[in-house]
Amino acid sequence: MAEPGGIAEGDLEAAGLRLSVTGEVATVSLVRPERRNAMTGRTWEALAHVGQTLSESVRIVVVKGEGSSFSSGIDLNMFRPGGVEGETSLMDRIARGSADDAELDAAIAGYQEGFRWLRRPDIVTVAAVRGHAIGAGFQLALSCDLRVLADDAQLCMKEPALGLVPDLTGTKPLVDLVGPNRAMELCLTARTVSAAEARELRLAELVVEGAELDAAVDDLVAALLAVPREAASATKELLRGAPGRTLEEQAAAERRAQAGRLTAMAAQAARG
Ligand code: ACO
Repeated sequence: MAEPGGIAEGDLEAAGLRLSVTGEVATVSLVRPERRNAMTGRTWEALAHVGQTLSESVRIVVVKGEGSSFSSGIDLNMFRPGGVEGETSLMDRIARGSADDAELDAAIAGYQEGFRWLRRPDIVTVAAVRGHAIGAGFQLALSCDLRVLADDAQLCMKEPALGLVPDLTGTKPLVDLVGPNRAMELCLTARTVSAAEARELRLAELVVEGAELDAAVDDLVAALLAVPREAASATKELLRGAPGRTLEEQAAAERRAQAGRLTAMAAQAARG
């Protein structure tokens, strides 16, 4: 059976993902609750595939985890002898000497594609986080435009404690949100941030009681859908680009974007 977007359901499920599309809203669920939604290389490749094949009608993507945790991060079996069933782990390839620097770079870039598309201007992405979001799980939540947390959410950038660096595109949004010093403190202690602190640190747009999470996300999605799509896309692009521009450059970008909007609106009015 084919999922919306032409992805075989079995392939997605085997990668620990489920995609459902209702009208303009797609929901991507991590579906390995028995492993607290631990993710493997295959999960990230499947996630990239979901992004590449997402129906053009989709405006909002909700990312969530089934069960008590959003995600416990990378499947730790990826670091153990034998790895993960059906996957050759990078660790095995390195140990065998069969992965050089260029191959490692390409492999990690492929994994990062699973996270990068969530910033696309034509969609708005919402992470619905309950329980743990650890390591890659925290980075997945950070890749989304907006985060709604249940009050039991616990965020942790665990990678440095495991001898690694966070490499799934999470360091940029973390620094953008909390500043370099707080980001350093969070990463270099690998401590856990509660939902209440996450709200203070602007890591969450909204914190709600666990039982209210789905309803709060639905309300947010409804509010996002109420804004015209093209205006939302142009505004998202403007806001995403703002930190990298001077005031002059941003003012120019606003003028260009507004000219585009006004032209489109005038054309629409002329068509009646
Ligand atoms: N990889 C593989 N298996 C995992 C992972 C993981 N990341 N997380 C949980 N599991 C497994 C457990 O081994 C356990 O398996 P079992 O039932 O066969 O014993 C099962 O999922 C349930 O886990 P528990 O620890 O019993 O669940 P609990 O709710 O008590 O704790 C928690 C959840 C806090 C997430 C804990 O499992 C944990 O700390 N996991 C490891 C987190 C981690 O270090 N992730 C890597 C971060 S770095 C990165 O992502 C790059």
